[in-house]
Amino acid sequence: MTHSILVLNGPNLNLLGTREPDVYGSETLADIMGDLAAYAEERGASLRTQQSNSEGDLVDAIQEAMSWASGIVFNPGAYTHTSVALRDAVAGSALPVVETHLSNVHAREEFRHTSLLSGVCLGVVGGFGRHSYFLAVDGLLRHLG
Ligand code: DQA
Repeated sequence: MTHSILVLNGPNLNLLGTREPDVYGSETLADIMGDLAAYAEERGASLRTQQSNSEGDLVDAIQEAMSWASGIVFNPGAYTHTSVALRDAVAGSALPVVETHLSNVHAREEFRHTSLLSGVCLGVVGGFGRHSYFLAVDGLLRHLG
């Protein structure tokens, strides 16, 4: 069976490559997403990728995914730590969602230690740089079977 996965990226992740490269690496989001799509395809899954800096657009993307996706790999960026709306969207979608971070948020500033989303996600991956996305896809596909 072919699974369709949404890989959703939140605010400022469009700046990957130039944004704080010591924290987030020097690769662009397009580079990582391109490799991730090939990786998923090798495993019989298809990816759609989307990025937005707007909370409402991310809510819309999650709601739209309900009609076509088997699950979501979601890096909510800073909204991880602030957004009740995104938590409600994830919970309301009833889709398996893997919260994904490039950095280890628990090793950083205290305000990053809280996630409003983790409690409604299937699982959480973080701290492995670009590899976090690949581990998240793996985890989601293993869950979906
Ligand atoms: C991030 C971690 C967040 O705290 C931060 O606001 C981001 C990126 C990560 O991928 O490590 O924008 O989600």
